Amino acid sequence: MQWLGLDHRSALVTGASSGIGRAIAEELGRCGVAVGVNYYSGRDEADAVVGAIEAQGGRAVALGGDVAKPEDCRAMVEAVAARFGRLDILVANAGIQRDAAFTELTLADWRRVIDTNLTGAFLCAQEAVRRFRAQPPPPESKARGNIIFINSVHQVIPWAGHVNYAASKGGMKLLMESLAQEVAHEKIRVNAIAPGAIKTPINRPAWSEESALRELLELIPYGRIGEPEDVARAAAWLASDHSDYVVGATLFIDGGMTLYPSFREGG
Ligand code: BGC
Repeated sequence: MQWLGLDHRSALVTGASSGIGRAIAEELGRCGVAVGVNYYSGRDEADAVVGAIEAQGGRAVALGGDVAKPEDCRAMVEAVAARFGRLDILVANAGIQRDAAFTELTLADWRRVIDTNLTGAFLCAQEAVRRFRAQPPPPESKARGNIIFINSVHQVIPWAGHVNYAASKGGMKLLMESLAQEVAHEKIRVNAIAPGAIKTPINRPAWSEESALRELLELIPYGRIGEPEDVARAAAWLASDHSDYVVGATLFIDGGMTLYPSFREGG
């Protein structure tokens, strides 16, 4: 994947022990990026991601940490810089769901989702921007630093029974855009990817049974569920100079889920 020109860069990918984060870490590793593979509880899984990257000749390190804790975010950014010399790319991917009907949703589950998905993205981005400013500009990159938020189609699609998740993702949209506006003049690029239904552990109930999958596919005009690699390839492009003029953008990777599919034959 040399054509992306990403070798000699280093990245921190949060929530990289499974799902979309794992695929992004492995894709960046294939592109020559040295990767900090953050995990929360999946130490063995993170070690496996590191092993997969190293097996392809790449460099990676597993980093435990809770993105909702400022000291953990600081430690992870410092660890990537200490190990690989610098931090060039943050992929703020860590995210969880704790679903419940509105009146059954506990304050603890509201807070945990907002803390991880929104506050966690804020804290990691804050540490990354501080790091980008503190280190010399990268020798072979047009941007001084690059942040990619992994958002969701639910930054625009309301989602009954998931108000904590949808609120975290709606909040992330304006976090991303406001930050992009604030730091673009420093040549720090901030963008997002909004995946639709991607086959990962977070939405297993939506694809593991045939009837659920059939219902899910009704919502996807392109007629298939996404794979983590669909998102990972776009993340590598967004992290590279090939997307240098892309600033404050959200790339929807959703097989058309945001196209109001039920209007195909109505309205
Ligand atoms: C959620 C998944 C869901 C998808 C499409 C994602 O952000 O995490 O559970 O399948 O959006 O609704």
